[in-house]
Amino acid sequence: MPADSLTITDNRTGKQYEVPVTHNTIKSMDLRQIKVKDDDFGLMTYDPALLNTASCISKITYIDGDKGILRYRGYPIEQLAERSNFLETSYLILYGKLPAKAEYDEWVHNIKFHTLIHENIKKFMDGFLYDAHPMGMLIGTVAALSTFYVDAKDVNNPTSRQKQTYRLIGKMPTIAAFAYRHSVGRPYVYPDNNLTYTENFMSMLWKMTEVQYKANPVLAKALDVLFILHADHEQNCSANAMRSVGSSHVDPYSAIAAAAAALYGPLHGGANEAVLRMLDEIGSKEKVPAFVESVKAGKGRLMGFGHRVYKNYDPRAKVIKTLADEVFEVTGRNPKLDIALELERIALEDDYFVKRKLYPNVDFYSGLIYQAMGFPLEMFPVLFSIARTVGWIAQWEEMLLDAEQKIARPRQIYLGEDTRDYVVMSKRK
Ligand code: CMC
Repeated sequence: MPADSLTITDNRTGKQYEVPVTHNTIKSMDLRQIKVKDDDFGLMTYDPALLNTASCISKITYIDGDKGILRYRGYPIEQLAERSNFLETSYLILYGKLPAKAEYDEWVHNIKFHTLIHENIKKFMDGFLYDAHPMGMLIGTVAALSTFYVDAKDVNNPTSRQKQTYRLIGKMPTIAAFAYRHSVGRPYVYPDNNLTYTENFMSMLWKMTEVQYKANPVLAKALDVLFILHADHEQNCSANAMRSVGSSHVDPYSAIAAAAAALYGPLHGGANEAVLRMLDEIGSKEKVPAFVESVKAGKGRLMGFGHRVYKNYDPRAKVIKTLADEVFEVTGRNPKLDIALELERIALEDDYFVKRKLYPNVDFYSGLIYQAMGFPLEMFPVLFSIARTVGWIAQWEEMLLDAEQKIARPRQIYLGEDTRDYVVMSKRK
């Protein structure tokens, strides 16, 4: 009997089965042979929310949730946050290695070459109401891009995929900034390709009448680091959406619109917006204990706390906490920081949170920085989307090139009605 195997006894039949164990995992399809009768469908696994199912083999991002470790392609997130920049990290995530100088220069050039959007996209964005949520605008506009780039349908063509990668990473900040300018009624600012990726984004957001926008270097660096921290996070809800929708071989703009929609929810990328609303609702440091008690009593969640994978301090939250001090030196301290620090202090000492291993996640402090920098709450998930676009594309590409992947199509356990005959309306009770 091979050591790397599992012996399963089916007590319904007394039969035994040998199932190989690879990477601490058994293949669900190996269970299909387990049947009571020959014409049975075979054994399945039941895993709502995919709590214990590896849906792919990946080489992009590694997380050890118990130890609080996050690495992109093997490089610790702390080193990348300190020494890399967002576009270099994006190259690493997409192509699996840090670029040499010439590769980096070409990469940056190609992204900058695709920052402009078609004038009709601008008109499309004009159609939204003045108070449209910018995340709704982003999702709709990215989906609309698929009608502008019909070559994107050719998902099996590496040259086409490369082109859409440049376009998506190049245009996301432009769409995001236009959504913001639309909401505040200011004219759109076109990209300035003499600036860095992050500075250009800030220029498109905040440039007024000056000839060239000069970003505060501390804030530009902080935003760039936040982009690095949000660039990928293995099989999260939106990456799963990207892979699942992309597995139908739809174009990447449509798939990214789906992924961004998944990110929009308050349990995922909408959490940093929800954290700030929660801090507003608490109002002052003194009210923190009562709020924590209400969470423990089941009246809502402590937003920005807890994670499916991290059962330790989220390493991204640690980096962000340090970053916050640097940003607040420029912008002034966000008064809500005191409430957040008190929440963290009380929660980390409280049995409810300790027992469930609930620690601050990436969203607990990021919103405080974004707000101090001048972003309205509605822009928070939009910022997350700019960075996560890189991860979505990397996950999509990996899925497409994986010979074991097929269209994502889970099974179900049907417990509904058995067959019954249609009854005309006049005879229904
Ligand atoms: N506040 C209070 N209780 C919580 C929280 C929280 N934030 N998170 C989990 N719990 C409790 C939950 O009630 C459950 O308790 P019990 O066992 O008594 O029923 C236990 O902890 C396990 O929770 P779960 O819902 O089974 O955990 P999950 O892995 O399904 O959910 C989560 C993960 C992130 C959705 C959840 O922790 C949560 O809702 N957090 C708040 C929202 C948030 O901050 N989301 C951002 C996630 S990080 C950024 C990203 O990747 O998008």
